[in-house]
Amino acid sequence: MTGFSASDRILDRNRQYIPGGISSINRLTDPNIAFVRGEGSHLWDAEGREYIDYHGAFAPQFLGYRHPEVQAAVQHVLEDGQDLWGSGPTELEGRLAYLICEKIPWIERVTVLNSGSEATAQAIRLARAVTAKDHVIVMQGGYNGWHNDVAVNLMTPLDQLGPRRSPGEYPLAPLSAGIPAAHQSLLHAVNFNDLDSVRYVCERYPVGALITEPILQNIGLIKPQPGYLQGLRDLADEFGFLLIFDEIKTGFRHAFGGYAEVSGVLPDLAVYGKAIASGYPLAAIAGPARWMEHYAHDDPSRRVLLAGTYNAHPVPTAAAVATIEFLLRDGGALYERLERLGSRIEQGLTERLAAHDMQGVVVRQGSAFVVFFMDHHPVDWHDLAGNHDYELDRTFRLALIEDGIFFFPIATKQCSISAAHTEADIEQTIAVVDRALTSVLATR
Ligand SMILES: Cc1ncc(COP(=O)(O)O)c(C=O)c1O
Repeated sequence: MTGFSASDRILDRNRQYIPGGISSINRLTDPNIAFVRGEGSHLWDAEGREYIDYHGAFAPQFLGYRHPEVQAAVQHVLEDGQDLWGSGPTELEGRLAYLICEKIPWIERVTVLNSGSEATAQAIRLARAVTAKDHVIVMQGGYNGWHNDVAVNLMTPLDQLGPRRSPGEYPLAPLSAGIPAAHQSLLHAVNFNDLDSVRYVCERYPVGALITEPILQNIGLIKPQPGYLQGLRDLADEFGFLLIFDEIKTGFRHAFGGYAEVSGVLPDLAVYGKAIASGYPLAAIAGPARWMEHYAHDDPSRRVLLAGTYNAHPVPTAAAVATIEFLLRDGGALYERLERLGSRIEQGLTERLAAHDMQGVVVRQGSAFVVFFMDHHPVDWHDLAGNHDYELDRTFRLALIEDGIFFFPIATKQCSISAAHTEADIEQTIAVVDRALTSVLATR
């Protein structure tokens, strides 16, 4: 594979001062590629090589890199005399919350934070406060951030996890050292698409929250089976836990109202991030007043602490307002355009796989897609981990990178199309996929 010596030099230098050389382990890849410039749908690495990008910085770059309107909104804040005051409300945070409440009918209150992990931590705390129950259900194969309540059971090796358990729960597999055992005992990891396992846990423990991505998009793309999300809604009502949709990846991307809008199933709380602010660090928790007002409860013993020096910082908040105004333009015409681009890439990739006689499926929701080298759409982690050809996936991604298409070089990682992608980008990608499959087959 082509060398990345300029990128490696950056990593080597960083390693002297930063553990591992990088401030988020999730960005560390093999090959190590440092990017130095982005514009629209294209990226340039430290060697000066150009790529059509499908990573989108793990999906926040929904409008494309350096979107002019977002840039202008940020520039305006910087030049307008605005800064972080640390005292009093801001009109910008009010405008952002207003737009969300106005346009997503079930949402009555919104609060603004800096990152997805903060939002999921806060949502779980709120659910515990509301229900007075401490146990939390998470999904095997779901990712909801890095904190103690959720950093478990993502891409757990099957030999560690054992066979599929249904109804039942999996042994807890922390993603981090340092999560206290007492804390782990409050967490329960179950299969996605498996209502019996949720019931199983609810019958045994006082469950205050179930948090799930409505589509598992951190292990590619695993969709909820028909009726599954409604089944979760029904179980939440039956057992009295709060259903939290982690829409950090799905929110604003699959529809303005996220996957709740697509599915018609309403959670108790939703958390948003990524696409909401076009690459700027911002996340939000949203829901009906009856839950959200616990952040301002009259009774201090029931009030949930929500604080943060940087919450609703004017720069990311202006980026979010500009993003939302762009998304709402022309009655949401962007979503139709992205559906067309998504459908073309799905069709093109499916045809190329068939032309090369390769076993593979393209799973897609709107602008998010993934190629799984297996014969069906997986329904849960065991299905994916047991059937997908990881080796082939990785070789495929490396061949694409070699030819100027950036699919994140870790098997199963989901791809994102942005508003900046053109039909020409998509056609070029399909042509490169064709060449990549030829070269992959030649090495087998
Ligand atoms: C679904 C989901 N939830 C939560 C998070 C955590 O967000 P952040 O990395 O901003 O803390 C992520 C990040 O990838 C995510 O994909």
